[in-house]
Amino acid sequence: MIAEQLRKQFRELYNNEPLVIAAPGRVNLIGEHTDYNEGFVLPGAVDKKMYVAMAENDTDTINVYANQFNETYSFGLTGIKPVNGWMNYLLGVTFHIQDRGKKLRGVDVIIDGDVPVGAGMSSSAALTSAYGFALNEIFHLGFSRMDLAFIGQKTEHTFVGVMCGIMDQFASLHGKAGHVMRLDCKSLEYEYIPFNFPDYNIVLVNSMVSHSLAGSEYNVRRQQCEEGVSMLKKHYADINSLRDVTLDVLELHRQELPAIVYDRCWYVVSEKERLMKGCAALAKGDLATFGLMMNATHQGLSKQYSVSCTELDFLAERAGFIDGVMGSRMMGGGFGGCTINIVKKDAVASFTQKIQAAFEQLFKIQPYVYVTQIEDGAKAI
Ligand code: GLA
Repeated sequence: MIAEQLRKQFRELYNNEPLVIAAPGRVNLIGEHTDYNEGFVLPGAVDKKMYVAMAENDTDTINVYANQFNETYSFGLTGIKPVNGWMNYLLGVTFHIQDRGKKLRGVDVIIDGDVPVGAGMSSSAALTSAYGFALNEIFHLGFSRMDLAFIGQKTEHTFVGVMCGIMDQFASLHGKAGHVMRLDCKSLEYEYIPFNFPDYNIVLVNSMVSHSLAGSEYNVRRQQCEEGVSMLKKHYADINSLRDVTLDVLELHRQELPAIVYDRCWYVVSEKERLMKGCAALAKGDLATFGLMMNATHQGLSKQYSVSCTELDFLAERAGFIDGVMGSRMMGGGFGGCTINIVKKDAVASFTQKIQAAFEQLFKIQPYVYVTQIEDGAKAI
């Protein structure tokens, strides 16, 4: 449907037939702020997507029309530099593809999508993935999905200023319907795990606090983790990231670490261990145990890692009092965005009604609720 609309719009705007790519946002069941610490994550691609329609235009200019902003932006293939705004994602991907020695020519583009921006569902990773995927197809660049994920991540680092890990881009490009992926962010090996719970839904509740990770505390968290690693490395040469640290080692050197750095490291190391236990529970079909792990993750993110906010804390806590909820926690980078909840299918309607009413009473705004499906990663449609 959306593909047909985009094709029609493309014909009217550029008088040409486009290739249409859809790339999804992501959920992450557990393993938060572990990716840039070389730990594990457990994301899946969702049914909210960014779309890129694209065709060659026989020039050296890239012309973009962004439906969501009703804006046009054109840029040349040389001298690309960061600017302010949504176009940075496209500028960055174009730059980094060429920086890897690949030759591009001009294209006409329409971008569209329904991944809510600033809601912690990775609309930006979906956009860089869809755009990079489209260029890769049109110019036969030969990049793997993992290459495209790294190009998207590098764009965040160098054009947007968010020192993110690889989870979001990876998930948008590698997703598989009905499955989550356990990604080892150190070796980049991954495994598809069926999310086979027909009686449950993954439900997101938007705190309505829109976050931008750029220039935020996100980068500070990363630095605090690195500070912990460099202190511990003085004692253990083989420690290169928090992946290599155990709670025992951390405890042993507690006095040497600033309290805040200890807290940050403690959260990451316990989350790493929690993810392993969570995966074992999922494999046994034990959602009750898995839900308890999600709740514990929220506590850690809120108390030790300090990336939550009043609205997210309220949503996670309130969910715990509603029947049919197995677990609830804030999801993604934090400072706003959504909670992720595992809810019994037959309780989703009453959960939605109750959580919306409670939130609205306190914060005077109704939170959006998204009942998600786990779908495929980026592909042509
Ligand atoms: C953001 C980043 C990811 C990851 C999460 C937290 O979504 O883009 O790389 O660090 O936050 O788990």
